[in-house]
Amino acid sequence: MRRLRSLSATAPVRAPFSLGGSSGTKLLALAGVAVMAAACSRAEEKPAAAPAAPAAEAAAPSPAGAVAATELPADVSAAMDQLQGRLKERLVAEIAKGGPVAAADICRTEAAAITAELQKTGLKIGRTSHALRNPANAAPAWAEAWVKAQGGRKVAAGPKLAAADLPGGGKGYLRAIGTAPVCLTCHGPADQLVPPLREVLAKAYPQDRATGFAENDVRGWFWAEKLP
Ligand code: HEC
Repeated sequence: MRRLRSLSATAPVRAPFSLGGSSGTKLLALAGVAVMAAACSRAEEKPAAAPAAPAAEAAAPSPAGAVAATELPADVSAAMDQLQGRLKERLVAEIAKGGPVAAADICRTEAAAITAELQKTGLKIGRTSHALRNPANAAPAWAEAWVKAQGGRKVAAGPKLAAADLPGGGKGYLRAIGTAPVCLTCHGPADQLVPPLREVLAKAYPQDRATGFAENDVRGWFWAEKLP
């Protein structure tokens, strides 16, 4: 929170990462990121859809649920690394280099590429949270209780990994996503977001609950479903 004081209305352009250009360009760039992120979420909707069929759930002797785990299979953590690296960190770097339009293109093409790559290996992957910005990022049924129960804590204060047996066979995996300083630009306290960004987010995500985070909070979870 202290870190974000510089983002208050009196100094709206001092984002934690440098976007280059004039002050006006910086604000436009931020708004552009939000729009681009919305485009990303649409690309992610396909793999995030289709949890277990209700019939299969009803037939299962006990409901599937995630429990803490000590490690993830190598291909699962590699896929999560890939999603994290390409959709998030690299994106912010691209905005600094080429501006929001260039970043939006990379976002769309890379999100589609990652999705296609992973489908081939029998993995479904996505991001979720107890406090969603985009309702399309809702947790799969097997992860719901875990994600909800772990909300509101610091990453270091509990398990970072979890796993579940999926009702239809296969395994589900979860890995905590921490809140880094750069994330506070768009997920920090609502009254500390720069006004143009706040407006764009309010329009695009009328049910936005993904503000009010502090550094090292659990922001959400990567999830993956691995076929048997
Ligand atoms: C420039 C604004 C911006 C920044 C910076 C940003 N996010 Fe987001 N974030 C968004 C938007 C917009 C969405 C909703 C669209 C989507 O699903 O990607 C979102 C969605 C998410 C989601 C999916 C769950 C949900 O609430 O819909 C997670 C998890 C997430 N962000 C984590 C992070 C983390 C971790 C960081 C820092 C490394 C970060 N974000 C930085 C704008 C941002």
